[in-house]
Amino acid sequence: MSFYDTILGNLSSYIAVTDAEEEVCDLYSVYYSSSSTQPRSDLVDPSKPELEIEIPGSGRRSITLTITQNPHINNELGQTGGVLWNSSIVLSTYFARHHSNNPGWEANLKEANIVELGSGCGLVGLTLHRLGARRVVLTDQWRMMKVLGKNVDRAKTGRNGGVLVAAEYDWSTAGEKGLLRGSVVAAEPVDMVVVCDCVYHEEVVPLVVRALAEVCACQGTGRRAVGIVAQELRSDLVHQAFVEALLQRFTVYRMPVDPATDAFYVLYVVWLKD
Ligand SMILES: C[S@@+](CC[C@H](N)C(=O)[O-])C[C@H]1O[C@@H](n2cnc3c(N)ncnc32)[C@H](O)[C@@H]1O
Repeated sequence: MSFYDTILGNLSSYIAVTDAEEEVCDLYSVYYSSSSTQPRSDLVDPSKPELEIEIPGSGRRSITLTITQNPHINNELGQTGGVLWNSSIVLSTYFARHHSNNPGWEANLKEANIVELGSGCGLVGLTLHRLGARRVVLTDQWRMMKVLGKNVDRAKTGRNGGVLVAAEYDWSTAGEKGLLRGSVVAAEPVDMVVVCDCVYHEEVVPLVVRALAEVCACQGTGRRAVGIVAQELRSDLVHQAFVEALLQRFTVYRMPVDPATDAFYVLYVVWLKD
């Protein structure tokens, strides 16, 4: 059974998204009425070169990961991945909780080949590895490869049986003929593509959606890949553009989050339209 089959079995607990404007109205009415309106930071703690992150599971031991950051990368124009973003904790926690509560999901992970786009320091992909995924490929632009590689190498020394790989994959190359084929990203049929907080201004929207579509298309025959997209809600206009672009290529469902703690975040599951 694939993630897609498991998700289809749970579709009644998700919200179908068919119109970007309606989606933004829905999300932002909760966002604005949320009691948690104190100033907040998008980042976990950019001042530290190394962070110990604890991801709580439910009914299962929590996962602790050491993550190296390089805040200097973020000083370069357009660079954002050198430090950990809060959304990566929200998504990792979602995976850890989901994992404990759904035996089918655990079985899916053991078989799964997962690709993460824009991994940054890599927390989400590394959490999936620790949860038992068969193969996880964490990708980013070349500037990020040193810090991402360091975090991946450290995690490899643990006793998890799964394959863990850091690979360069730049969204601006998505669609270039032959580039993905034969690369480590497409070396095996893909079951899940993870995208965490990769849309922070409107210009990246078409790049992210094209890359997500390109990697989802590496699905196996008769085995549909799902995309899991986590996004911190910032600008309503940028989010609307993102949902609009997703809807052109993908079927989109929103997964429920706890509005008391996660009102600023949204999680989607998507798959390519036929
Ligand atoms: C806001 S950060 C999020 C990082 C990480 N997913 C997290 O949640 O902590 C966005 C990530 O997208 C990556 N990115 C931006 N443009 C990219 C591109 N053209 N190709 C690949 N990755 C890109 C950045 O390097 C960065 O790691």
